[in-house]
Amino acid sequence: MSSGAKGSWEFKVASFVKSSAQPSECPVPDRPEYAFIGRSNVGKSSLLNMLAGRNSLAKTSSTPGKTQLINHFDVDGTWYLVDLPGFGYAKVSKREREKWMKVTKQYLDSRINLMCVMMLIDSRIPAQKVDLDFMAWMGKTGLPFVLVFTKVDKLNKAEHAEFLPAYEMEMLKQWHKMPPVFVTSAKTGEGREEMLRFISATNGLYQP
Ligand code: GTP
Ligand code: MG
Repeated sequence: MSSGAKGSWEFKVASFVKSSAQPSECPVPDRPEYAFIGRSNVGKSSLLNMLAGRNSLAKTSSTPGKTQLINHFDVDGTWYLVDLPGFGYAKVSKREREKWMKVTKQYLDSRINLMCVMMLIDSRIPAQKVDLDFMAWMGKTGLPFVLVFTKVDKLNKAEHAEFLPAYEMEMLKQWHKMPPVFVTSAKTGEGREEMLRFISATNGLYQP
């Protein structure tokens, strides 16, 4: 494997497909799909753009609550990336937040082609109850997920060494073992190859 050469995990083109307010409006589930989930502002849309290698494929914003619908992106006509609204944003009414949590769970529950949920965690923030609760729900529902730590470019050396062991310690209070972990930065591209390799390998497990 020579560095710099395009690996089999690399893809050619990513494009926006559609935004859906309801799971029933989503594209036909005829190919493997990966959903990005996490609290508002964690960096879901930015990570999607980083993986896609396109700056403004998914809309990002420093104001939380930017992504409001279930957004499907096609990659090489062979798999889907899905950008979801964030949860836990305090400025959105409780009713609105609960509605979105319900729609998100209905979506995750109903997509038969969903290979894996990418659970995004801000590497600067200690483990949050809303995230741990959400992972507990995925565990109970039998949804496979991986942890994706975001914004690691913002950490200093000491923080970089600390955040993962600290998170593991919290998580292992509830789980027997850790799911796969990816350490990423949408700014520097760190973690891109690892995530695309994972997706490429997981695509190989897809059964229509
Ligand atoms: P919602 O759609 O509101 O749920 O947010 P989101 O999770 O999609 O977050 P988004 O990608 O819009 O990013 C939120 C803010 O964080 C933006 O200002 C991004 O530029 C910034 N950001 C995201 N990822 C990174 C990263 O890896 N490094 C740095 N430095 N900033 C990031
Ligand atoms: Mg977003």
